[in-house]
Amino acid sequence: MPERIVDLRSDTVTQPTPAMREAMYRAEVGDDVYGEDPTVNRLEALAAERLGKEAALLLLSGTMGNLVGLLAQTRRGDEAIVGEHSHIFLNEAGGAAALGGVQLFPIPSVRGVLDPARVEAAIRPENVHYPRTALVCLENTHNRDGGAAVSVEATDAVAEVAHRHGLRVHLDGARLFNAAVALGVPASRLVQSVDSVTFCLSKGLGCPMGSILAGSAAYITEARRWRKMVGGGLRQAGIIAAAGIVALETMVDRLAEDHRNARRLAEGLSQLPGIAVDLDAVQTNIVMLEIVDPRIDPWQFVRAMAEQGVKIGSPYGRRIRAVTHYQITPDDIDYTLRAAEVALGLVTA
Ligand SMILES: Cc1ncc(COP(=O)(O)O)c(C=O)c1O
Repeated sequence: MPERIVDLRSDTVTQPTPAMREAMYRAEVGDDVYGEDPTVNRLEALAAERLGKEAALLLLSGTMGNLVGLLAQTRRGDEAIVGEHSHIFLNEAGGAAALGGVQLFPIPSVRGVLDPARVEAAIRPENVHYPRTALVCLENTHNRDGGAAVSVEATDAVAEVAHRHGLRVHLDGARLFNAAVALGVPASRLVQSVDSVTFCLSKGLGCPMGSILAGSAAYITEARRWRKMVGGGLRQAGIIAAAGIVALETMVDRLAEDHRNARRLAEGLSQLPGIAVDLDAVQTNIVMLEIVDPRIDPWQFVRAMAEQGVKIGSPYGRRIRAVTHYQITPDDIDYTLRAAEVALGLVTA
């Protein structure tokens, strides 16, 4: 048996904090479909305020937040421009197409940033042959691009092009607060120019479940209807919302610790022969390492780490993701670096 378990597969593996469990136990609840759950109402108001938007809605997951977020501002046959590495395009089971009849048009992204000129070029002219471009989707932080924190300027530049062409902008901010902490910018400023935004209460903020969708009051009224349609109308959801309030009040500033741990991990790994890490790309809690020595099989490396209790992501080609979160300590990082040396055959266990 390994000496300990260090789970770096994702920040989705976090356990609720004692304060969350206590708040969930004590939560005042009601029927949220009737709008009568006071804890949900409090969380939605708090989230809207933190994001500088008129209204917010609690959903079960980030995927449901993005799906409802898209459905509430598109029609069947519309097109949404997305980054080619975006979670919406790669990892949401084609929901926009299957459930919304919305076609996705992927364009390149570099460290999470879409080039405004590429966005503009992708917008369809009015023509009976073409789908109607309705939406541009952004992602911040950008998961597959290694947790990149996308700046206010890069976000605003795409929003400016989209709005000039009468399109709306949705931001998948599953890890929005990681971006805000890394950039030293309020989350509300990061999302000021977008029309709709989701963030996850689970992941780095540590809740057992839940995501928020925010935007104008009229948009959230429409989204509430779509949430009901996809089966997301919740009853005594204050049980979940109570943890979300604790997350927003106590778990945001500490994300900086996760970022420090990720940097230490990245720097340590980058010194090991056979592994490369683009250190400039490590901006938040995600480390993308690359097994550059062709003699090392990435899957074998993952297995050798797992044998020592260190769980990391499944390889994408030769790239492997490791994610820090509040249950990972600096000591766990030292343990992980030692395990990597063993996995590479540099030292014996
Ligand atoms: C960028 C991004 N968006 C959306 C999601 C979906 O969240 P969920 O797993 O809660 O559906 C994830 C999950 O990892 C993500 O990384």
